[in-house]
Amino acid sequence: MTSISKNVQSVSASGIRKFFDIVAEMKDVISLGVGEPDFVTPWRMREACIYSLEQGRTNYTSNWGLLELRQLIAQHLQNLYKVSYTPENEILVTVGVSEALDLALRAIVDPGDEVILFEPCYVSYAPCVTFAGGVPVTVETSAETGFVPSLEAVRKAITPRTKAIMLSYPSNPTGATADRKSLQDIVNLAREADIFIISDEIYDRLTYVGEHVCVSSLEGARERTILLNGFSKAYAMTGWRIGYACAPPEVAESMMKIHQYVALCAPITAQETAIEALSAGEQSVQDMRAEYNMRRRLIVKRFNDCGLSCSEPRGAFYAFPSVKKTGLSSEEFSERLLHSKHVVVVPGNAFGASGEGYVRAAYATSFEKIEEAMQRIGEFVESLPQAVGAL
Ligand SMILES: Cc1ncc(COP(=O)(O)O)c(C=O)c1O
Repeated sequence: MTSISKNVQSVSASGIRKFFDIVAEMKDVISLGVGEPDFVTPWRMREACIYSLEQGRTNYTSNWGLLELRQLIAQHLQNLYKVSYTPENEILVTVGVSEALDLALRAIVDPGDEVILFEPCYVSYAPCVTFAGGVPVTVETSAETGFVPSLEAVRKAITPRTKAIMLSYPSNPTGATADRKSLQDIVNLAREADIFIISDEIYDRLTYVGEHVCVSSLEGARERTILLNGFSKAYAMTGWRIGYACAPPEVAESMMKIHQYVALCAPITAQETAIEALSAGEQSVQDMRAEYNMRRRLIVKRFNDCGLSCSEPRGAFYAFPSVKKTGLSSEEFSERLLHSKHVVVVPGNAFGASGEGYVRAAYATSFEKIEEAMQRIGEFVESLPQAVGAL
């Protein structure tokens, strides 16, 4: 019988796509929509890849990934966060954080198990939980509490079916970070309930205020944490499809079991490039971060200036201003802005119900384009019946 799995049917297509399809048809569009660096992968990394191809390195690698890369990842985490992972059986190189997330969930979730998500959050989390046979359970967060949930709210969400809590700071879409104490409190809850933590730290290097706290480095966290990270954002390597997961051996080996059957290994060219990124890419990371930071200041100021209240994003490359005062829903605001001013932002409800009333604006585009986009957004807000003066 040719019918699509009910599980797959239950998940709707990503709300973000719809906007990108409209954009493809338009001229003179400025997109603050896509969560992707506008930088090209730094030349020395591309050069390393070209060299590896010249050397004929086009084969499969170990299912775990090149040992040299895993050793560098271990060293990197040790240097930055004083967390120690064994390259041989605790670090798995994956096809982006996307694959690592899928593997993590499939390795730990049994049918009906619950996974707690803090919304608004990255669009893939809930669908991936569902695809793994689990049930996503939402804890809502808001700008008032810096998009970090109260401990009480997390405690309430934990049931006997809870298998894991999903953490992701700095956050897509809010740009929020979480401090050491808040994260330690959540880790303590996970310990009490004896559940896993999956921590997606893909934006760790794009932290502008304070220091990034790696969840695995917290007391009692390492043995129950699956740490996900990758090269897409900090090294401007989205198209290479390369990431990694770190976890205690039993979990890492289970993830590897799935990975070896469904992906075999991450692409060798991407692995070779990632080796160069970790060996010699630090200055590029610093330079790109400094540029994002300038844009971050600009965009936050300009949103607040035009009456759309925007709390300070401390990490990633997203601003998440409130559009509630305009009287428009997130989708109405985004659609009308797109049609009248040709500027793309993503409606906040694409990231969960608690994202309603906000829009996500990525500042991974040039300073000049952000200035122009903000000019247009200002004019758009002024043109609304409840013009900004009255807001
Ligand atoms: C929070 C978060 N996790 C994971 C991903 C996907 O990362 P990758 O390109 O490594 O698959 C993204 C991409 O936007 C993201 O924002």
